[in-house]
Amino acid sequence: MNPESFFSKDIKPALQNDPPGEWMPVIPQGCIRLSSGYPDPGLVPAEELKNSVVKLLEEEKDLPLHYIGSKKADGLKGTLQHLMKERRMEIGSDELLITSGACQAIDLIARVLIDDETVVAVESPTYMEALEIFQNYTNRFMTIEIDGNGLRTDLLEEELKERREHGEKLPKVVYTIPTFQNPTGTTMSAERREHLMKLADEYNFLVMEDDAYGEVYFNQDTRPLKSMKRGNDPRVLYIGSLSKVVAPGLRIGWVAADKEFIQTLSWFKKDLDHPFSQASVSQLLHDLEWKEHYSALRKVYREKCSLLLSELEKHMPESVSWYVPQGGYFVWVQVPGTDTSKLLEKAAAEGVSYVPGKYFFLNQEEGLEYLRLSFSYEGESGIVDGVERLARVIRQQMK
Ligand SMILES: Cc1ncc(COP(=O)(O)O)c(C=O)c1O
Repeated sequence: MNPESFFSKDIKPALQNDPPGEWMPVIPQGCIRLSSGYPDPGLVPAEELKNSVVKLLEEEKDLPLHYIGSKKADGLKGTLQHLMKERRMEIGSDELLITSGACQAIDLIARVLIDDETVVAVESPTYMEALEIFQNYTNRFMTIEIDGNGLRTDLLEEELKERREHGEKLPKVVYTIPTFQNPTGTTMSAERREHLMKLADEYNFLVMEDDAYGEVYFNQDTRPLKSMKRGNDPRVLYIGSLSKVVAPGLRIGWVAADKEFIQTLSWFKKDLDHPFSQASVSQLLHDLEWKEHYSALRKVYREKCSLLLSELEKHMPESVSWYVPQGGYFVWVQVPGTDTSKLLEKAAAEGVSYVPGKYFFLNQEEGLEYLRLSFSYEGESGIVDGVERLARVIRQQMK
């Protein structure tokens, strides 16, 4: 029997791509993980979750363990609406779908919007898992550069104009991480946000706003694109996640969009839900005093980022540069003239890991001299030792 002969013809082109997860570096034991975009282990509310689950089961007994969920599971929607309202988004309950993390939200949206003829515009660089998902559905992309102020909307406009003039296909959707972007850590400026939404009207495209890091600001909240037109811009499909502020293993994400999109996404989502996880998180957010939890975590990440930046200043050669983020988990570093994927072997041998920049680009050649550092997971000593080791390897390489 040949298993492949049974595969749908629709998935065959996707199987020509690199397998998912190629970007994940092989990390020797004991290695300092400046590669991991995971939350700080001390901020994952494990003890609190244990107590909340006990409370939940005492109150609701077996209910959250059935298919249909429970009052608490249903309550999660209201909590998420409330969280969004705090950030000036006015979302009705029929405009919201809870998903298994932001990744399922991206996948469902792709499934509903994208076929092999669809052009998708993405930032360059962008979140590598989103690239993997989109490439399962199409190989037609427009890539738009990022700089210190986020997506270069001037370049987007140029490209759109050119395509229109030449009768070429226009993108149906622009995928953006406007706030504390992965991997660059940059935030789209207010003018560019206005410009992007103007272009969306003019060229009739949708905007997928991935706001996985929006709550992880160091000093000041940034207004989501979704909130721009009276608190609910219908052109924006907003994607949220609790992975970076509560815990990724709970797999809680969501989409806020026009109710017709939500109905259609639900059509394909079916019962691929986790009522127990949703009920547990609903109870946890109620018990946790999330406002305090969020402000505590902002402080931790602000301090860790500031430590990483000062260590970079201290140890890196002059020619190495980086953006200074205002939130999120990452610092994006340029190491001129160095192929960072080759350098990784040496870095890992010295006991420090990072993610090579090439994985965040459709055309990987463009990312060779970049690398992504994460300050979220390691503690103080890991950050200090990690940067010192990495700088040593880079200096040796540059000799
Ligand atoms: C930009 C971005 N979107 C989405 C995700 C995934 O979120 P989730 O764990 O909710 O699927 C990540 C995780 O690294 C991310 O960086």
